[in-house]
Amino acid sequence: WGATGHRTIGEIAEKHLSKKAKKQIETLLQGQGLAIVSTFGDDIKSDDAYDKFYTWHFVNFPFDQKYKDSEKEKRGDIVMGITYCIDILKDTNASQEDKIFYLKFLVHLMGDLHQPLHVGRAEDKGGNDIKVLWHYKKSNLHRVWDSDMIEFYNMSYSELARNTSDLSKAQIQSIQQGSVLDWTYESQSLAKKVYNSAQPDEKLSYRYSYDHFQIVRSQLQKSGIRLAKVLNDIFD
Ligand code: ADE
Ligand code: ZN
Ligand code: ZN
Repeated sequence: WGATGHRTIGEIAEKHLSKKAKKQIETLLQGQGLAIVSTFGDDIKSDDAYDKFYTWHFVNFPFDQKYKDSEKEKRGDIVMGITYCIDILKDTNASQEDKIFYLKFLVHLMGDLHQPLHVGRAEDKGGNDIKVLWHYKKSNLHRVWDSDMIEFYNMSYSELARNTSDLSKAQIQSIQQGSVLDWTYESQSLAKKVYNSAQPDEKLSYRYSYDHFQIVRSQLQKSGIRLAKVLNDIFD
């Protein structure tokens, strides 16, 4: 996702944190909210020192394979990245500095996990190589899903986060079911639909948002609510 998507997810998660988690996170982040730190994973991309985290933002494995049977990226993928962040945060021997770093990264990666094309095909780099026009401007399928559709609405992240409220306790619990791997397969299954939604060089416009923004909305919402669950479990 782009900055708005990530911030929306951070803002939604913030609203679903337990008292205990909220307090410990506030201490670690020195008062910065989850929305503000959510873009950290992308902010560090411009620094060569963090090149080794590049592959942590996504996972590509064949749609007809199980993750565990698939060939792994040596530098790590988003499933390994999230697992690593959780391990550091649970580790009583980890330094405060590491905890802060991997907490910010976890907020970011839980977001990316819910962008369907971050669990896409390796051949087209999760849709980055599928050129399309977005309202007559050059774009690609990955960018349409990361940011073009979201930015087109011209809504702030707090408006987007507010828009996704009013769920019952039972609905929230149902969204929070499952594991990181379950959520990965859910994204991958949406990615299949996304790949079928547009042809290379297609001109995408209002109709495309009309047909697909609902998935963006629900993925942002699930992502925030599940991030809160992961954090509540860590800091319980
Ligand atoms: N680069 C390669 N695969 C990618 C993906 N699925 N998402 C983002 N960037 C990528
Ligand atoms: Zn992306
Ligand atoms: Zn990212």
